[in-house]
Amino acid sequence: MELVQTFVGGFDEVLGGGIPKGSIVLVCGSPGTMKTSLAFSIAYNNIKNNGSKGLYISLEESTDDLKTDMENMGLAGLDKMDLHILDVGKIRLEHKEEEMSKNWLEVLMKYIEHRVGVNKFDIVVIDSLAALYALTKFSNPRRELFHFFGFLKGLGATVLLISEIPSGQSKLATYDEDFLADGIIFLKQYEMGETDVQLRIRCIKLRRRKHKHGYFALIYENDKFAVTNVISE
Ligand SMILES: Nc1ncnc2c1ncn2[C@@H]1O[C@H](COP(=O)(O)OP(=O)(O)OP(=O)(O)O)[C@@H](O)[C@H]1O
Ligand SMILES: [Mg+2]
Repeated sequence: MELVQTFVGGFDEVLGGGIPKGSIVLVCGSPGTMKTSLAFSIAYNNIKNNGSKGLYISLEESTDDLKTDMENMGLAGLDKMDLHILDVGKIRLEHKEEEMSKNWLEVLMKYIEHRVGVNKFDIVVIDSLAALYALTKFSNPRRELFHFFGFLKGLGATVLLISEIPSGQSKLATYDEDFLADGIIFLKQYEMGETDVQLRIRCIKLRRRKHKHGYFALIYENDKFAVTNVISE
């Protein structure tokens, strides 16, 4: 089985080697848990290290803002890489207004299908599902999302879907995405005592891998993510 590495130091071992190619993985977390940075860095490092091609669909931030953020994190050479960042503005420019007023999810699916077909992207990130839902008029969300996940699966690309969890909420996703996804990577800010907070990561599920289930501390140092064991208090 072909595995997609995360290039997060120590975390591929947690996943049992990596993410099976073609999986649909939710990257869930409350605001500011580095969901964007993590998903972007997974795409970036695969492109840099093994010649993958990535499509990053940014529905939250403009391409320029996202690039600036990622460059500030030390991810250099973005303009020369096979990493195509699309934002809502760009997608709007390529579609007629009447198309956009129709179901956004349909527009996006056609777009992804076309781009994946032409550019042979093997990693696709959608940041975020919440932003996608805000642009979509669902008549039957569960049925339409079932169809959407089936569509993503059919692409054959490894897909990372960023799922925002409002602070304090225990649900991982808005509808049944957590059941539909092949994998769930969960990020949380863990409060330590009165003042300290530690960012933690956990693989909740990953189909076809024997992965570890526990929490690890997630750090970003020297332009690289890594996990370390959590010392129990
Ligand atoms: N080197 C670093 N180490 C730790 N944290 C960092 C580092 N660089 C940036 N951050 C922090 O990461 C957070 C933002 O990360 P990111 O935008 O990836 O999170 P997010 O979960 O996508 O946020 P949002 O919920 O707004 O989409 C900020 O709080 C920022 O200060
Ligand atoms: Mg984000």
